[in-house]
Amino acid sequence: MQVVASVRELRAHLKTARQSGQAIGLVPTMGALHAGHLSLVTASQARCDLTAVTIFVNPTQFGPHEDFHRYPRPLEKDLDLCRAAGVDVVFTPAVDEVYPPGSRTFVEVSGLSHILEGVPRPEHFRGVATVVTKLLMMALPDVAFFGQKDFQQQLIIKRLTWDLNLPVEIETCPILRDPDGLAMSSRNVYLSPEQRVTALALSRALHQVTAAWARGERDPAHLTDALQNRLKQEPSLQLDYAVVADPLTLEVLTRPQPEAVALVAGRVGTTRLIDNVLLTDTTTR
Ligand code: PAJ
Repeated sequence: MQVVASVRELRAHLKTARQSGQAIGLVPTMGALHAGHLSLVTASQARCDLTAVTIFVNPTQFGPHEDFHRYPRPLEKDLDLCRAAGVDVVFTPAVDEVYPPGSRTFVEVSGLSHILEGVPRPEHFRGVATVVTKLLMMALPDVAFFGQKDFQQQLIIKRLTWDLNLPVEIETCPILRDPDGLAMSSRNVYLSPEQRVTALALSRALHQVTAAWARGERDPAHLTDALQNRLKQEPSLQLDYAVVADPLTLEVLTRPQPEAVALVAGRVGTTRLIDNVLLTDTTTR
């Protein structure tokens, strides 16, 4: 496994692979890797000849009072996990390598960036869109892999690759959960055992709406009730939103439609958690 910290080295490695006809898969992460991240690696290995993982805690996607400085950075453990998973290249740049002094260009996906997650985090998606565009331009992969866990994020990334004609395919991979149902997240390490129990309300609420959908319920008001009832019973969860929306525009549904996404977000203590479920023809309990 090659571990590189400069764009020059990354490009050199990937250029050789590309010239020998290998398909390149890219898995962008902020590290603190868990099985959810590794499922993206597996998806990349299934489709591509070479898999590159990026580990970069991107400062531009954190708000001034968010957890940028305390975000977990267990680099050696992450590298061991990548090695064990058979990753070919890991890119671990410093902040100055990604944002050389004087950087002043940002990518902004209008419309999708200031709703839902973008309400409490108004600069967040500008930071995500910018760093992902940069990572794609640095690595020039054939396919890049993102998790459905961050539903709005993968939609914004798909949108920007279409809008900017980037020659890369974006594949969205399913959410990996712990056995109790909690969606895996690098931020789950912040939760105390009691807070973890509170956090489970999110996945349980999604289970309720999935069950309603599977019974044939399509009325958005009823689906939203099924989603919110469970969450209202959890006083230690500070709910930011719990909505049933269109999976392409993220507009909250006002009338029944064949596909939807239920999205929830809230805070348990100081830890912010998100989760979602797609509701389609094939949704079962
Ligand atoms: P990070 O939170 O480290 O997540 C990296 C990738 O792993 C994202 O595509 C995310 O959706 C996916 N992921 C996280 N938890 C998952 C789970 N439980 N199941 C499946 N996939 C999961 O998302 C980011 O980093 C950053 O915003 C990034 C895209 C790297 C840009 O900085």
